[in-house]
Amino acid sequence: MPPTLPPPSGWFALALTAELAEGALLSRRLAGKELVLFRGPEGQPVALDAHCPHLGAHMGQGGTVRDHTVVCPFHGFRFDSTGACVATGYGTRPPPSARVSCHPTAESGGWVFVWFHPEGAAPAWHPPPVSLEGYTPPRCTVATLRTHPQETTENSVDLGHFPVVHGYGAVTLHHFEVAGPYLHTRYGFVRPDGFPGLGRNLQVEISVHVWGLGYSYVDVHLPGLDLHTRQYVLPTLVDADTTELRLGMVLRRGAAVDWRLRFVPRWMFDGVVSSMAQNAYVGDVMQDRRVWENKRHVERPLLAEGDGPVGRYRAWCRQFYSAVQA
Ligand code: FES
Ligand SMILES: [Fe+2]
Repeated sequence: MPPTLPPPSGWFALALTAELAEGALLSRRLAGKELVLFRGPEGQPVALDAHCPHLGAHMGQGGTVRDHTVVCPFHGFRFDSTGACVATGYGTRPPPSARVSCHPTAESGGWVFVWFHPEGAAPAWHPPPVSLEGYTPPRCTVATLRTHPQETTENSVDLGHFPVVHGYGAVTLHHFEVAGPYLHTRYGFVRPDGFPGLGRNLQVEISVHVWGLGYSYVDVHLPGLDLHTRQYVLPTLVDADTTELRLGMVLRRGAAVDWRLRFVPRWMFDGVVSSMAQNAYVGDVMQDRRVWENKRHVERPLLAEGDGPVGRYRAWCRQFYSAVQA
């Protein structure tokens, strides 16, 4: 069942900061647009339309980056970080109107974001700076799903599905607030299966920070172990019915971390423990996959006590769709 929701405005993650290395050229899709990403002269991420205005080659398919310009693989025309054509492959003067569209970019919390607005409006807000101080290097798993960012982000406030889909117990909402494009909620639950080697029936405290429908991070604290993970949930609509969901994770030990983790050397914590935590995170999210890929979007859901703040989430989501789309 393809999603029926149109593309929302917002910032959407297209790469890890580390993936967009100096001189690299990445090929990405965002809401039906083909884009190329590279680093500009100040190291800033640059996102340009991928198709060359000369004779239409896809610059992400064989193109290169030279002196912070992208070089088209077909005739060698070069485009700078504003999208202007600055050279042909023949050493002749570029056609004055030759340029490709340039899209706003941002970088936060180890991710590269590109702004999308269905009518091309400029960004109305920016992702906040997020410190990764003390955390393990970010891990990322990309899942391609037949769903929509509003559906995957709704998962974070849909408290009713936690016992049914994930087997969590004692789900308790502590807090919910919205402020413009930002939504924050906190809740707790018990994870009966725990984690391998760390016991069962673990108490989990969750603090969800959502910036639009493409960017949320979930601060997870296991008070019994004093272990903190930050799980990034980064759904990017790539075409009308497909979302690339980037599942990112970083991990850190609290001051009172459980003795079984206290003496684990840094290299092992960054490697083995972080990898196990990422697998557990991705495993939990994949429990939702079948529902997401086969559900239909119910515009007026029949909400019941126990759902959590789904209705308030839906009201908050409306700001990301323009009147033209409605
Ligand atoms: S198509 Fe890009 S240089 Fe000709
Ligand atoms: Fe879920």
